[in-house]
Amino acid sequence: MDCCVIGTGYVGLVTGGCLADLGHNVICADSDAGKVEFLSGEGIPIYEADLEDVVKRNLESGNLRFTTDIHEAVATSEFIFITVGTPSDDEGNADLTQVEQVSRDIAAALNGYKVIINKSTVPVGSTKKVQRIIEETLEQYHEFDVVSNPEFLREGTAVVDFMKPSRIVIGSDSQKAVMRLTELYRGLNAPLLVTDPVSAEMVKYASNAFLATKVSFINAIANLCEAVGADVREVSLGMGYDDRIGFEFLRAGPGFGGSCFPKDCRALLAIARANGYHFDLLEGVLEVNREQYERMVEKVDRAVEGLEGKNIGILGLAFKANTDDIRESPAVHIARALIEEGARVRAFDPQAMENARMELEGCEFTSDAYEASESADVLVLLTEWDEFKWLDYNRIKSLMRTPSIVDTRNCLDPAVLRKLGFVYEGVGR
Ligand SMILES: NC(=O)c1ccc[n+]([C@@H]2O[C@H](COP(=O)([O-])OP(=O)(O)OC[C@H]3O[C@@H](n4cnc5c(N)ncnc54)[C@H](O)[C@@H]3O)[C@@H](O)[C@H]2O)c1
Repeated sequence: MDCCVIGTGYVGLVTGGCLADLGHNVICADSDAGKVEFLSGEGIPIYEADLEDVVKRNLESGNLRFTTDIHEAVATSEFIFITVGTPSDDEGNADLTQVEQVSRDIAAALNGYKVIINKSTVPVGSTKKVQRIIEETLEQYHEFDVVSNPEFLREGTAVVDFMKPSRIVIGSDSQKAVMRLTELYRGLNAPLLVTDPVSAEMVKYASNAFLATKVSFINAIANLCEAVGADVREVSLGMGYDDRIGFEFLRAGPGFGGSCFPKDCRALLAIARANGYHFDLLEGVLEVNREQYERMVEKVDRAVEGLEGKNIGILGLAFKANTDDIRESPAVHIARALIEEGARVRAFDPQAMENARMELEGCEFTSDAYEASESADVLVLLTEWDEFKWLDYNRIKSLMRTPSIVDTRNCLDPAVLRKLGFVYEGVGR
């Protein structure tokens, strides 16, 4: 089946590659000519497990190609995926500029029946909005349907998540569009929820806001654990055995970040405000998260007894392990705060340094974790990359000025480190 995917970022590239892997004929279109050129020849511009192989094999087989020509991509496809960005605007609303532009581009290229599938995370009512923009822009009538089909993939495991989704949600009023899309997804084995567009749009925001709530909840519990002398890791374990609660998203840490949770919580709050509902619970989730960033900076401050002029080694800048994405990364936020407080920050991340360079003025970037530890008064672990667990901490101790570690991800063993002579500080333990 002929598909085009408009916007080849984290979601679009995975969608395009995986649809091609399912045997479809896919054109990925992006307005960024440099990105398209890179994708057509050199490799992929992001770090995402398995994705490079998927893209390469489908480029070679001819199932996948990249273009800047959105008109041609739409004209030659039946299924049009919208996967452009929907960042926050100044008031926290989802900024739909990219989606609106793409809707106009699609309208200009319609030449027969198309199913237009919105995978971008958009506020309730956006499916109708896209439909209206297309109707208003169309110069000649062509049949089309707009469908909401939120994406639930996670960076770091995006290819597996796309191929083995937890569920497929399709929001549409058109039986024809639902039938065509379920046919397209025939190779995927997942529970299918067919619903109205507004409910589908809400599913995505409600899911992300709920997961963010779990994170803030366990961080609040972690803070209380510190006050009463409990260990939040034991508490999470004891809670998680209850099937109604589960283990996922119950890891205390520096707070949530990334390109989705913060912006989607803000967007849901904006939706609530616009509809006259005071979503105090979600306000609290974001407030706990903001405070958690600050608490991490205070932990480092205490560890070195004042940040001014201190050497701080940082391990990890990505918003989580196994990605190079630093959008709204707690690590970047915390590193920036430390620099602003007068500390000398030297940081290492296995994949995210190129992106971080543009965001972190005044930070020195090192070639490995050991270099980041040199002469450090404290080492701060901010992203839970596996490789940080297996470092030679004896060597690190010998390189540091003071053997002190703040482990904001609770991924190191305090007993082992204390035995080596480190002062160890985790979160909620
Ligand atoms: N990143 C995730 O983990 C994730 C997961 C689920 C849903 N989402 C949602 O999916 C959407 C895309 O997220 P992303 O992280 O892939 O974004 P991204 O910023 O990585 O990618 C967006 C792409 O769209 C392109 N683009 C922008 N305007 C364009 C236009 N007018 N025409 C053609 N291309 C255009 C950009 O060049 C870029 O390559 C967002 O709404 C996001 O909330 C993201």
